[in-house]
Amino acid sequence: MKRENVTGRANVEDTPELEAYYRELEGEALGALWNVANEIEPWYPQPKSVPTLWKWRRIEPFVRRAPELVSAEKAARRVVMLVNPGRKEWSAAAGLLYTGVQVMNPGEFTSAHRHQASALRFIMEGRGAYTTVDGERMSLGARDLVLTPNGTWHDHGVEAGGTQCVWQDGLDIPLMNSLDANFYEVHPQVVQTPGKLSRENWSKPYSPQFKYAWDEAYAALKKDAIYEYRNPLTGGPIMPTIGAQLELLRKGEATGAHRHTGSAIYQVAQGSGWSEIGGERFEWEEKDIFAIPSWAPHRHGASEEAVLFSFNDLPAMRALGLYREAPG
Ligand SMILES: [Fe+2]
Ligand SMILES: [Fe+2]
Repeated sequence: MKRENVTGRANVEDTPELEAYYRELEGEALGALWNVANEIEPWYPQPKSVPTLWKWRRIEPFVRRAPELVSAEKAARRVVMLVNPGRKEWSAAAGLLYTGVQVMNPGEFTSAHRHQASALRFIMEGRGAYTTVDGERMSLGARDLVLTPNGTWHDHGVEAGGTQCVWQDGLDIPLMNSLDANFYEVHPQVVQTPGKLSRENWSKPYSPQFKYAWDEAYAALKKDAIYEYRNPLTGGPIMPTIGAQLELLRKGEATGAHRHTGSAIYQVAQGSGWSEIGGERFEWEEKDIFAIPSWAPHRHGASEEAVLFSFNDLPAMRALGLYREAPG
């Protein structure tokens, strides 16, 4: 056999006989692998998601208009979703991660529910927001992070004496749906009765700590320039499928470029700067949100001191043995 001509890749020219054969296959719910092999077995990840930046000044007017058009009660979750142009069929912001911006006025609340999807919320602005997770009620201020891990009962609201609150939701809904493993349930009570959650003999696959206050996270970030939100019991990620972190970029500083499997959604918590993602340059400022698809080379730089909040699907990648990293 002549090795030099063996590429291991499909290279079949259509003939009338083959075309008829393909049509017959289709009628039997069959198919020819060689027609799709190059696409479904790429040399390296070929995400459908594209690097995307959503400017806050473009999102904000839509977020503010939502409460005028639809009540929190009717919408159940009044959220403006960030949809990657390449991932519309999954309502994903990148890869199998979903994100959206939720707005709530004083006195409004969502009814209690739970789902298989893991969720987090990063507060963008406002006073008086709260979340109740498995009966534990937590007050939330700007840049606090709160988890509503897979399977926990949760409801959210804003105190009557508060201000309009806005936060970013991050979930793995597309991952759950692509695995056909999603469930959704409504709590017997509209809102949960707050109580004390027992954490004795904690054996859940997610962090027993649900709230990560900004002040503490920022103080730790100042020392290390990177702050991983962690499960305090294990030192591992906060949830089985989603990880989150803060990155501090000092004025004029730029990171080295790298790429890895797994998708990430960023929010600019403070400051301004730029990112190069997959060869494209994006300028960002506070509250802007951007998506880094799997395997896209990326680096960040700051024009003034900046803090980037991000969440990712790396825990899922690592758990499945799929994490791979390379220089950009
Ligand atoms: Fe939820
Ligand atoms: Fe990265």
